[in-house]
Amino acid sequence: MTDSTAPTIVVSAGPDEAACCTADLITESMRENHAAVLGLATGGTPVGVYRQLVERCRSGKLDFSGVTTFNLDEYVGLGPEHSQSYRYFMQQQLFDHVNILASNTHVPDGRATDIESYVVEYERQIRQAGGIDLQLLGIGNNGHIAFNEPGSAIDSRTRMVALTENTIDANSRFFESADLVPRSAITMGIGTILESRRIVLMATGKAKAAVIKAAIEGPIDPVNPASLLQQHPQLTFVLDQAAASGLNV
Ligand code: GLP
Repeated sequence: MTDSTAPTIVVSAGPDEAACCTADLITESMRENHAAVLGLATGGTPVGVYRQLVERCRSGKLDFSGVTTFNLDEYVGLGPEHSQSYRYFMQQQLFDHVNILASNTHVPDGRATDIESYVVEYERQIRQAGGIDLQLLGIGNNGHIAFNEPGSAIDSRTRMVALTENTIDANSRFFESADLVPRSAITMGIGTILESRRIVLMATGKAKAAVIKAAIEGPIDPVNPASLLQQHPQLTFVLDQAAASGLNV
C-alpha cells in the first residue's frame, strides 16, 4: 500500500538543477492560476530559483501581473532599506526585476510598532488573498523552517520569536559581525505554513543532509520543525544529491 501522505522527493544533480526544478514547480502553479498566491522564502538556497524566475519573466515566458506574494519572515528592527532585511533581499532578487505589482508583495514589517496586532493582520491578509497556493521553504541547519526554531508548535501562527544561537551564528555570514544579527524575528507559524495548498522545500549541500534525513525519515517531532510538515498532503522536497545523501533511498 502506498502512503497517500508520503512526500514527493526530487533529487537533482546539483544546486543549479534543483533551482531549475523548483522554478518549474512555481512556473506550473503560475500557469495554472494567473492570480496565484505564492509564499516565498529567503536565504542562500532560493537565490537560483529567483534568478530562473526573473529570466523566464524577462523572456516573456512568465507573467507576474496577477500574482500575490507573502514572505515567511523578517528580522525585527530591520527596515526595507537595510541591506540584510528580507524585504531588501526580495526586492533585489525578484520583485524589482519582474512585472509584479508592489502592492501585491507582502513581507512582514520588521519595524512594526504593535507587533501583536501586526501579526494578526498579516494572517488576515493571507486569508483575504484566498490562502497560499504554493509555499516555498528552505531549511536551517537545525531544521528550522522560516524562523520556526526547534520547539515550535505544529499549530503555531505568525508571531515574534527569539532566534537561537545556532541560527544567529549561521546567518551571521550575511552581517559584518554576529553582534549585528537581530535577536528576534517575525515569522509565519508552522500552522500558517501547513495551511498552504502545496509546500515545496528546497535544500542543497552536504551540510543539510542530516537535517533533511531527520525531516523526511525521522519522527514527527518539534525538535526538528521541518518534520512537522510530514502530514501535509502536497509536500515536495527538491534536493540536490549532496542534501539527499543521507536518505535510505
Ligand atoms: C534563514 C531563513 C530561512 C531559511 C534559512 C536557511 O534563517 N529564515 O527561511 O530557510 O535561513 O538559509 P540558507 O538557504 O541560506 O541555508
